[in-house]
Amino acid sequence: MTDFDVVVVGAGVTGLTVANRLHAAGKSVLVLEARDRVGGRLLTEDIEGVRLEVGGQWVSPDQTALLALIDELGLEMYSRYRAGESVYIGADGVRRTFEGEQFPVPATTEAEMERLTKELDRLAAAMDPLAPWEHPDADELDRISFATWLAAQTDDAEARDNIGLYIGPAMLTKPAHSFSALSAVLMAASAGGFSNLVDADFILDRRVVGGLQRVPLALAARLPEGTVHLSEAVTTIEWDADGGTVFTGRGSYSGRRILMAVPPTLVNRVQYIPALPPVQAQMRQHISFGLVVKLHITYDTPFWRTNGLSGTAFSPYALVHEAYDNTNEDIDGETRGTLVGFVSDVKADGILALSPEARKQAVLESLAAYYGPEALNPVGYYESPWMADEWTVGAFGTSFDIGSLTRYGSHLRQEVGPLSFASSDIAGLGFQHVDGAIRMGEAIFRRYA
Ligand code: FDA
Repeated sequence: MTDFDVVVVGAGVTGLTVANRLHAAGKSVLVLEARDRVGGRLLTEDIEGVRLEVGGQWVSPDQTALLALIDELGLEMYSRYRAGESVYIGADGVRRTFEGEQFPVPATTEAEMERLTKELDRLAAAMDPLAPWEHPDADELDRISFATWLAAQTDDAEARDNIGLYIGPAMLTKPAHSFSALSAVLMAASAGGFSNLVDADFILDRRVVGGLQRVPLALAARLPEGTVHLSEAVTTIEWDADGGTVFTGRGSYSGRRILMAVPPTLVNRVQYIPALPPVQAQMRQHISFGLVVKLHITYDTPFWRTNGLSGTAFSPYALVHEAYDNTNEDIDGETRGTLVGFVSDVKADGILALSPEARKQAVLESLAAYYGPEALNPVGYYESPWMADEWTVGAFGTSFDIGSLTRYGSHLRQEVGPLSFASSDIAGLGFQHVDGAIRMGEAIFRRYA
């Protein structure tokens, strides 16, 4: 058995950030990863001849920790394709094209959306995303669902549906009646304000040449050989005040500190001897993954561009609530066009209950409503399988149920003896994003150094 300064459980961006910083500071570190690859929720794969971003992919200007790391690793970026008009399908079922970020809705709805956006910006500005429970209205906002809050704000259903879309289906990937208004404000505050979430050109700004998984791959490549053990799931951790021993199916490793760099939902999957304090075990039962199916649909050509469309499409009423041009602009000679679309929360439940053929047909029909009948004839179709992957079990990230952010939030990042916990799910700025994973990793390093 070898003694390490730190044993890191999980080779996602959080775990690899910590391992890199510790190694550079001369500390001994071991990373144990359950999967046969690094990157966690970042995975860039060639699927039937098309390179796809199965997990996270976009980088936005507020994600300064990620931007700095991309720079440090010498990676390059390119802009998401956005020339041309976007498409919106409203409550009346009518398809309309538009430019800019304001959906083509009736003037009264537009005014309500602007008012709600300002109100959410105001609430977010008063929040420290690392301590949402300290918000002046925390108790009140955590007791009610985001849907209830929206209903109290406006009678305009289309305004509610659109504002709800940005945080429900598009971010927390849960129905707006299942998370608190405080969680909604946290989502906004963590991205620098609600206005940023509304602006697709901001929040989905750039992509990394070669795919975002190059970040964790490059981090792992900087560690000495043998530092990262793949296919080694941690099952048990024995701990006391001086350190811990981590058990996998292949061996045991001891460290003065143990970092669980895994989503909160997977922290409880490991057996702790002695058991974690009651509040820790209770707290994580109130956190759950959202559910979204990320879809890639490839065509012989990016036909929508020829039709003057950017590929950007939204509708809270459509099966695919948002879609974008996701063609690999960084591949020389790429002539095909790829759309990426998302089916979220209860709509995801619905399509996952269908046969694969019926599911594909439903998705293609939803895309055809945005882009026309050419969307019905793709050359490639792929559904990211995160919800069935035992080392994630959902997408994009996790969030608290109603009332639990104020009840348990302050315990989220608390250490237990030699055990620490970190992942993008418990970040402040960059919450649920790669940026937050890096920020959590850097914070743990500062604590350990
Ligand atoms: P992550 O979950 O990545 O890593 C945890 C690691 O721990 C995993 O590798 C897992 O296998 C391992 N593990 C778990 N239990 C273990 C055990 N018992 N023993 C050993 N190992 C164990 N973000 C963004 O910035 N821009 C975007 O566009 C998107 N889009 C997006 C799309 C989709 C479909 C998904 C699923 C996610 C995104 N995200 C995103 C979110 C982003 O991918 C995510 O926030 C970070 O990659 C999370 O990194 P972490 O290291 O915190 O956790």
